[in-house]
Amino acid sequence: MSSPYRNLHDNYVPNHWNWRELVFYAVLAGCPFLLGVIVYVSLVDKPSHELTDLGDTDRDNIQRQWDPTDDEHRRRCFANDQCRMVLAESIPLYMKYDDNATFGLPMYKVWKDLLAKATNSVDVASFYWTLTGPDIRVNSSTDQLGRDILEVFKEMPSRNVSVRVAVSSPSVAHDSTDLDVLQTKGVQVRMVNFGRLTKGILHTKLWVVDMKHIYIGSANMDWRALTQVKELGAVIYDCPLLAQDLQKIFQSYWVMGDVNASIPDPWPPSFDTSINRENPLLVNVSGVASRIYISGSPPSFCPNGRTRDLDAILSVIKEAEQFIDVAVMEYFPTSRFTKPQSYWPVLDDALKKSAFERQVPIRLLVSCGRDTDPAMLPFLKSLNDLQYPSENISIEVRLYIVPVVNQSSIPYARVNHNKYMVTDKVAYIGTSNWSADYFNTTAGIGLVVSQDSTSPASMSRTLREQMRVVFERDWNSQFAVKLSNLSHNPDCTFAGLASSNL
Ligand SMILES: *[C@@H]1O[C@H](CO)[C@@H](O)[C@H](O)[C@H]1NC(C)=O
Ligand SMILES: *[C@@H]1O[C@H](CO)[C@@H](O)[C@H](O)[C@H]1NC(C)=O
Ligand SMILES: *[C@@H]1O[C@H](CO)[C@@H](O)[C@H](O)[C@H]1NC(C)=O
Ligand SMILES: *[C@@H]1O[C@H](CO)[C@@H](O)[C@H](O)[C@H]1NC(C)=O
Ligand SMILES: *[C@@H]1O[C@H](CO)[C@@H](O)[C@H](O)[C@H]1NC(C)=O
Ligand SMILES: *[C@@H]1O[C@H](CO)[C@@H](O)[C@H](O)[C@H]1NC(C)=O
Ligand SMILES: *[C@@H]1O[C@H](CO)[C@@H](O)[C@H](O)[C@H]1NC(C)=O
Ligand SMILES: *[C@@H]1O[C@H](CO)[C@@H](O)[C@H](O)[C@H]1NC(C)=O
Ligand SMILES: *[C@@H]1O[C@H](CO)[C@@H](O)[C@H](O)[C@H]1NC(C)=O
Ligand SMILES: *[C@@H]1O[C@H](CO)[C@@H](O)[C@H](O)[C@H]1NC(C)=O
Repeated sequence: MSSPYRNLHDNYVPNHWNWRELVFYAVLAGCPFLLGVIVYVSLVDKPSHELTDLGDTDRDNIQRQWDPTDDEHRRRCFANDQCRMVLAESIPLYMKYDDNATFGLPMYKVWKDLLAKATNSVDVASFYWTLTGPDIRVNSSTDQLGRDILEVFKEMPSRNVSVRVAVSSPSVAHDSTDLDVLQTKGVQVRMVNFGRLTKGILHTKLWVVDMKHIYIGSANMDWRALTQVKELGAVIYDCPLLAQDLQKIFQSYWVMGDVNASIPDPWPPSFDTSINRENPLLVNVSGVASRIYISGSPPSFCPNGRTRDLDAILSVIKEAEQFIDVAVMEYFPTSRFTKPQSYWPVLDDALKKSAFERQVPIRLLVSCGRDTDPAMLPFLKSLNDLQYPSENISIEVRLYIVPVVNQSSIPYARVNHNKYMVTDKVAYIGTSNWSADYFNTTAGIGLVVSQDSTSPASMSRTLREQMRVVFERDWNSQFAVKLSNLSHNPDCTFAGLASSNL
């Protein structure tokens, strides 16, 4: 049996659905609008030699089925129109932005709201849980919001809400008592041994509430994620089809949390999805027609139909025409945990190719903090050097530094933990750093949203526009520092290096 892993650098093969299969299922489902989208995507995406494979009879059939004026079918394709999406952010305490700056809703408020809505079930996947200061042996009153969230979770079973929690093994939360406390209250907990399963970790952060509301983002179940670490995520309300799809990912972790579980190959059909890059979910979100799908990693956790997270990111980069803005905590065109370390220029190449061949301006906002590995700097500098204005080639890198101020006693805090990308076409929110292991052995997910804004009013309601504003806000803030202007800054490990190197 072949290994579920492939060397992403050398023989990287995406697990695309065969587009003919998709056409077949669309016809079967009697969904001409969907079919139209699939045919369109297939035609646009595929090299022409595949098109000529389409026999005349096939073509006639498709034309007969495809009737854009068929309203009843169209409605069926645009599922639940009341889907609503909000952008959620945590901004660490004691950070001063301009008075006119705009922010997503506070992560804490959004979480509280989601939990208040729950009447039946809450499923949470997170790297680890540390919602109180003592969980990490820290005495800080800034853990108050975390404690409050833990209290709400403790009460859920008595409200008859069934709560399931999947966390990573290995974990970093050795002193945490949260999960023991929750278990005594009736919460079901499984440690998923990714160390044994993939030699990685469970790094996903997701919630599914009542099988209709979801959260995806960078924030762990950690008090620091509410007051000390900069985070970004999205909550989508009343979106059962998307929630069912995310539930499949949760369920894949849950079953792998069984003692002695081994990764099935292939996964049973109940884990398959028909919502993916080629066939996104068509939903009306806050009145804006939207195409959404959820990508996953590692590849061995991508059952049939699930777009791999790396493929999702690569396609978003490839399809951008006017700009690509990326905010990630760490960026390494190498492996980090797999030894020996290998060079892995997959994302680096994709960015440079877009900058060079299509002259798409690229901006990369990377976190720098006390714990940042200085080995990242040369890679960032090499990207940043690709600036050639007369040829319209521009890749610019800035470092985002969260001031530590008087919070230095809190470990692994004061960083820009968010992981997202916004282009002229797509909003992408992920959970992975941009380095090889995150797409090869580590479990992570991505939310990919495209929205058609036909008017300025609908434009402001799109996730893409809200994330563009957030990126612009951060890029132009006092916290984003040009590589060429790194002066001594005790809060960023690059600062000392850069003054001697640049
Ligand atoms: C991906 O993981 C496999 C198995 O753990 C490993 O052999 C391979 O080198 C990894 N690839 C990269 C680019 O790290
Ligand atoms: C906010 O105000 C600053 C000056 O304080 C100005 O430079 C900036 O353009 C304003 N931003 C927005 C989004 O209005
Ligand atoms: C935590 O800090 C507060 C005030 O900063 C202090 O009153 C309290 O005794 C401390 N608790 C522990 C366990 O150190
Ligand atoms: C929870 O369910 C039990 C048994 O069905 C019922 O007796 C109890 O009233 C319910 N509690 C709440 C808060 O709904
Ligand atoms: C797990 O595997 C071990 C060793 O193969 C075996 O002794 C044990 O009974 C297994 N446990 C379960 C629950 O299957
Ligand atoms: C989407 O919602 C808007 C506002 O509620 C409505 O006018 C529009 O018809 C809806 N579009 C679809 C395709 O359902
Ligand atoms: C660069 O972009 C400008 C404005 O879009 C265009 O006029 C110019 O021809 C471009 N130059 C090159 C070398 O592509
Ligand atoms: C840190 O400074 C803020 C105000 O700048 C203050 O409110 C807070 O109490 C200080 N915290 C500690 C632990 O010193
Ligand atoms: C990646 O992100 C995680 C948190 O999301 C962080 O703890 C870790 O240090 C980062 N860097 C690497 C190389 O994994
Ligand atoms: C460079 O950094 C200094 C202080 O760190 C700041 O005052 C100045 O505005 C920065 N210059 C640019 C061009 O960003």
